[in-house]
Amino acid sequence: MMNLADKLTSPVFQTMSDVADRLGLETYVVGGYVRDLLLRRPCKDIDFVCVGSGINLAEAAAKALNPKINVNVFKNFGTAQFRYEDLDLEFVGARKESYQRDSRKPIVEEGTLQDDQNRRDFTINALAISLNKKTFGELIDPFNGIADMDTGVIRTPLDPDITFSDDPLRMMRAIRFATQLNFYIEPETLASIARNKDRISIISQERITTELNKIILAKKPSIGFRLLEETGLLAIILPEMQKLKGVQTVDDKSHKDNFYHTLQVLDNITFSTNDLWLRWAAILHDIAKPPTKRFEPGIGWTFHGHEVLGSKWVPRIFRNLKLPTGGEMKFVQKMVYLHLRPIALTKEEITDSALRRLLFEAGDDIDSLMKLCEADITSKNKAKVNRYLQRFEMVRQKLKDVEERDSIRNFQPPVSGELIMQVFNITPSREVGIIKDKIKEAILEGDIKNDYQQAYDMMLRLGAELGLKPVS
Ligand code: CTP
Repeated sequence: MMNLADKLTSPVFQTMSDVADRLGLETYVVGGYVRDLLLRRPCKDIDFVCVGSGINLAEAAAKALNPKINVNVFKNFGTAQFRYEDLDLEFVGARKESYQRDSRKPIVEEGTLQDDQNRRDFTINALAISLNKKTFGELIDPFNGIADMDTGVIRTPLDPDITFSDDPLRMMRAIRFATQLNFYIEPETLASIARNKDRISIISQERITTELNKIILAKKPSIGFRLLEETGLLAIILPEMQKLKGVQTVDDKSHKDNFYHTLQVLDNITFSTNDLWLRWAAILHDIAKPPTKRFEPGIGWTFHGHEVLGSKWVPRIFRNLKLPTGGEMKFVQKMVYLHLRPIALTKEEITDSALRRLLFEAGDDIDSLMKLCEADITSKNKAKVNRYLQRFEMVRQKLKDVEERDSIRNFQPPVSGELIMQVFNITPSREVGIIKDKIKEAILEGDIKNDYQQAYDMMLRLGAELGLKPVS
């Protein structure tokens, strides 16, 4: 039997061992912590299971670690939790039915360690290490989780139809672990997900989206999206993305498959950002291509306006997914809306006014936008990709020059609406808006500088044209 005593270095485990023996409780560390220990992934959440009362164990453990600790007890669920230093410690009594940390189901029946392991989600999450003195460090691995970890397999301990019907969120978890760990899902388990996909509807959107975001934050999110698509889950949880899949051909001309293109953009962007929202922008940048698709004889496939329609869809998609609808959503909308602009710039002569307009619209998100556009270049032709990237580099340089000169990124009108009203002694009105807008346009066009005096003079001229007289 494998012994992992030398890996249990945190002093918490010694204390737990003392407490467990003193209470005469068979006690183990189980689940994600054991998995991550073996995979050498950092983990701050430790789950303890004992054969008996998890609540008693938690209370005694807290007292032994530090009498001041406050234990959170969930009596109905037979669980308890507390924080110790940077660790989150959870305690549960072994049970015969499904164990889900965030489930609201009360416990029904106490069980043995084996019962408890049976009801966990995957073989790699069903490993337990004994903490009692006599057997300290011994690994209990009834389903060959170690072998699955070595070969990189996600597999349910029981018949997958049973494990997934215990908690359908586990279908998302299987795909999430496969993505995070770069494991493959054992064929029977995968087939069961496809069979049971509709059961995901009984799971709250928040829990589904938490898993989805973990997939998106992985190193190679496309692994997860391919699996979501293959199993049919994607069509249920994000149907707009499912619709990107497929290729149509007219007159021997095909457009690219926008689902796989999107996945590549998403993988590309993971090299340049950990930002969840920029990754969401990558997912949604072409989302409105299907309804804007046209075949135009002599031209080919076009998707006119997909960036505008796509950005309009973002709020609905965010609401459906229960994603935050504040600044994060606005950012994604802006990225989708502007995603064609830098590439358009590289195709023509790059004028300062075009650069100023882009800076004005993107503001402080200009760098994120450039990253998205660079990720959007997915041609298989390396020379072509390099050519584009070089041009983007040039755009970045020019943006920097223009910004240094004209400070457009955080554009504040050099003459304010209040000043306009004061100078002409008028109340808020259409004229104020017209004057402000024309001044902004003149600055972006380069007709005047982003400067108080030039803007002031222009205001006087525009006022005169509108029949306004400055008060002396
Ligand atoms: N578990 C389960 N079914 C679920 C959720 C959890 O069987 N739907 C079990 C697994 O044994 C899991 C343990 O509870 O390892 C702890 O769950 P949780 O903390 O949610 O996940 P971890 O596996 O620790 O992974 P992560 O921290 O990455 O979410």
